[in-house]
Amino acid sequence: MRVDVLTTFPEMFEASPPGVLGVSIPSRALRDGRLEVVATNLREFSASKHRKTDDRPYGGGPGMVLTCQPVWDAVHAIEASDSVRPVRACTRIVMTPQGRMLSQEVVEELATKPRLLIIAGHYEGIDERVIDALKPMELSIGDYVLSGGELAGLVLIDAIARLLPGVLGDSQSSVQDSFSAEPQAGGERLLDCPHYTKPRDWMGRSVPDVLLSGDHQAIVRWRLEQKRTRTRERRG
Ligand code: ADE
Repeated sequence: MRVDVLTTFPEMFEASPPGVLGVSIPSRALRDGRLEVVATNLREFSASKHRKTDDRPYGGGPGMVLTCQPVWDAVHAIEASDSVRPVRACTRIVMTPQGRMLSQEVVEELATKPRLLIIAGHYEGIDERVIDALKPMELSIGDYVLSGGELAGLVLIDAIARLLPGVLGDSQSSVQDSFSAEPQAGGERLLDCPHYTKPRDWMGRSVPDVLLSGDHQAIVRWRLEQKRTRTRERRG
């Protein structure tokens, strides 16, 4: 999959460690060629003398708003360029607190696309007219405000990278992740169960007996029950 990012902070998407994309699973996906991330600086597309990308909001108020022209031009230039022919269709995404809430279901859907274009707004946001014209999917990673859409975009890329075919080995399969549709529970999306490893006893706390029982069916039942209880208590 190719992911393009349109941002005024392209350095945030550099893959060299200690950047987010330079470590752990995303770095492996990049190294193996299963994921390609191309960040484009919005500034390069500004037609203004000082490469301005933003301006004060009409109606007054704090902050700055990204202007339509560089966003529109950059999106079309990015979409026309690809390392393969015919160019892959881009799924356009704007990261914004006003967007639809990101969920594992949305991540799973996006992980099947050939190419994403993530537009990371900064400051107060993006001029609504260019959003109307581009008709992107608008996504939020939570009801809180970040300084910009870049961190939210990185969250999205990380969540997608681990779902790309071949990125996780069998031992780390994403099927058992929190929020993955539970095969034993009619596709319910549940929080994960608690996990334990050695030693069996630690500071007077022991591992639940069932996990040491060797009874695989009982373990599967216990884990499912734990997932349901946690989900009810923490998300109910
Ligand atoms: N940009 C700023 N805050 C954001 C959020 N919570 N989700 C997505 N994009 C954002």
